[in-house]
Amino acid sequence: MPVVVLVGAQWGDEGKGKITDFLASQAEMVVRTTGGNNAGHTVVVGDEEFKVHLVPSGVLYPATLCIIANGVVIDPKVLIDEIDSLLAKGVTVDNLRISANAHVIMPYHVRLDELEEESKGDSKIGTTKRGIGPAYMDKASRIGIRMGDLLEEKVFRQKLMRNVETKNRLLQKVYGAEPFEGEEILQEYLVYAQRLRGYVTDTSLLVHKTVQEGKKVLFEGAQGTLLDLDHGTYPYVTSSNPTAAGACVGGGIGPSRVDKVIGVLKAYTTRVGAGPFPTELLDATGEQIRQKGREFGTTTGRARRCGWFDAVIARYAVRINGIDAFAITKLDVMGGLDKIKLCTGYRYGDQILSEFPISQEVLESCKPVYEEMPGWPEDISGVRSFEELPQAARNYLNRIKELTGVDLFLVAVGPRRDETIVLQEAFS
Ligand code: IMP
Repeated sequence: MPVVVLVGAQWGDEGKGKITDFLASQAEMVVRTTGGNNAGHTVVVGDEEFKVHLVPSGVLYPATLCIIANGVVIDPKVLIDEIDSLLAKGVTVDNLRISANAHVIMPYHVRLDELEEESKGDSKIGTTKRGIGPAYMDKASRIGIRMGDLLEEKVFRQKLMRNVETKNRLLQKVYGAEPFEGEEILQEYLVYAQRLRGYVTDTSLLVHKTVQEGKKVLFEGAQGTLLDLDHGTYPYVTSSNPTAAGACVGGGIGPSRVDKVIGVLKAYTTRVGAGPFPTELLDATGEQIRQKGREFGTTTGRARRCGWFDAVIARYAVRINGIDAFAITKLDVMGGLDKIKLCTGYRYGDQILSEFPISQEVLESCKPVYEEMPGWPEDISGVRSFEELPQAARNYLNRIKELTGVDLFLVAVGPRRDETIVLQEAFS
């Protein structure tokens, strides 16, 4: 099974970076397909921590071709900073390729993201304010600037000046904000274009050829199923489709080329930003999980909201993505809890719902139905096989398997590469 799509099965931050890194060690190509520098992966190699936002985590393997595909929105300044910091740590980026069709985040997108959030008052989405939404808006409005445009000065100038004119009208007339100077942006971005030119290519063709050759290709996930523009907890979502089908569109291949979809589930649930979260813990247990799990955003540093594992969400993610196997992350964080709760359904009025509700209003009023299981006091970070895990931890994992109907392929018991229990071959 050489083509694997990895997706987040909750609200993002499931620990996909570590799983991507694990799979990337076996893959010949890693493709990032959606989102932008709203995402952030932390990969730990030995004692070194690498934080990446745009560059696929596979970049740490020099022989793995790393693709930023057409579905991604790119802030070139952020990308160049990331490339420079990798180079400073001795990581080569010769294996990086960028799609000519990926859209570019411009300074006015970032400003509009901030202003739109501020104007929403109490109904803020809690975006990362990186300009992601406004860049995708321009893409859908068919006025966006793509990486390929940046490389053609005449085309770039023309598109940019037209956009700056309309954005300035919006900034001044609607928000009473300062306008942008088109020429300044042009000069700044032409420098970025020069720096990135050598990486830009037709990545869909590159992916296609690699798949045709039967090589192992990994589509790495960003964000998560519940943040999907179509299937997530709208309007508290991102502006792309970080689900398995979105990976095909964002990577430029057809769904029939995908062999396996792997979902990543954290052993508990977290979310950043606003929006409903049925199993949220606003007590000392939530705080304990946040501290032990270091649940603070890689991108914004915001404290993540923490709660119990939610099987309703996990089943929904299986349905939306067609998940074949799960990777469970951060099981070690649950160690030391007396009792562990698992949400098996939602109470809505006098009904028990086992399926994720389509209506946000219904979801907002849902209360979790819990099953309680004993916890385990042991530190499991040194465990490398399922059999060595404490019985209570095995019971917990088996229950997740039963409730979702999906096998587990890997369990992570710590952030380091070797703190991993492998249960199945991923590319088989
Ligand atoms: P945006 O993607 O910056 O527009 O933010 C929209 C929503 O998605 C906000 O609630 C963000 O907190 C959330 N979000 C975006 N990217 C991530 C991520 O990588 N992890 C978790 N939440 C994210």
